Amino acid sequence: MKHDTVEKNIALMALLMILVVSIGGLTQIVPILFQDVVNEPVEGLKPYTALQLEGRDIYIREGCVGCHSQMVRPFRAETERYGHYSVAGEFVYDHPFLWGSKRTGPDLHRVGGRYSDDWHKAHLFNPRNVVPESKMPSYPWLAQNKLSGKHTVAKMKALKTLGVPYTDEDLSGAVAAVKGKTEMDAIVAYLQVLGTAIKNKR
Ligand code: HEC
Repeated sequence: MKHDTVEKNIALMALLMILVVSIGGLTQIVPILFQDVVNEPVEGLKPYTALQLEGRDIYIREGCVGCHSQMVRPFRAETERYGHYSVAGEFVYDHPFLWGSKRTGPDLHRVGGRYSDDWHKAHLFNPRNVVPESKMPSYPWLAQNKLSGKHTVAKMKALKTLGVPYTDEDLSGAVAAVKGKTEMDAIVAYLQVLGTAIKNKR
């Protein structure tokens, strides 16, 4: 029987398995790469400003993604709590995505505009100051560390090569926009823009 040949030849078997699995995978993945709903930014989506971008990098550095997702799922319990569910077009300028999967704290995708800047500053400095029962860590150093803007332009240029539409003015104004600001200013600026391209429909 022909099947014997396949079963007795591990290399041939492996090759055929890869072939079969990739057909399945490719028919699912490739069409998505060409769908506008995934690749086109939602109306009103703006690239992160220099300050917001620095804030996003601090969010990554501090591991906020380890406790917070940024992905409101289309379930009633989530849309009632957070607002409109997340759509793919909101993330086209995010490289990398920070969707996360661990939800020790609340989802943060629609947190933009929910609290004042002062609330965020007090909360990040020591969450217990505003939410007594909180078990989120404190990040007091964010209020002290100042940004130099040394790598801001390089970061924006790298994102530009990935399709984020930064203009020459964005690049030339970037250092001035972040230099001397604290890491706290940056991360709060980032949090305040999260999910605001689609207004909360609650
Ligand atoms: C160890 C897990 C943990 C880490 C790490 C963490 N958080 Fe939290 N976060 C929580 C928990 C739990 C809450 C809910 C209690 C509270 O509001 O403090 C929370 C609440 C929040 C809220 C309020 C959300 C809302 O809708 O009320 C914000 C904003 C927030 N975190 C931002 C951050 C940022 C920014 C970082 C990184 C600098 C971070 N968190 C790191 C656990 C964490």
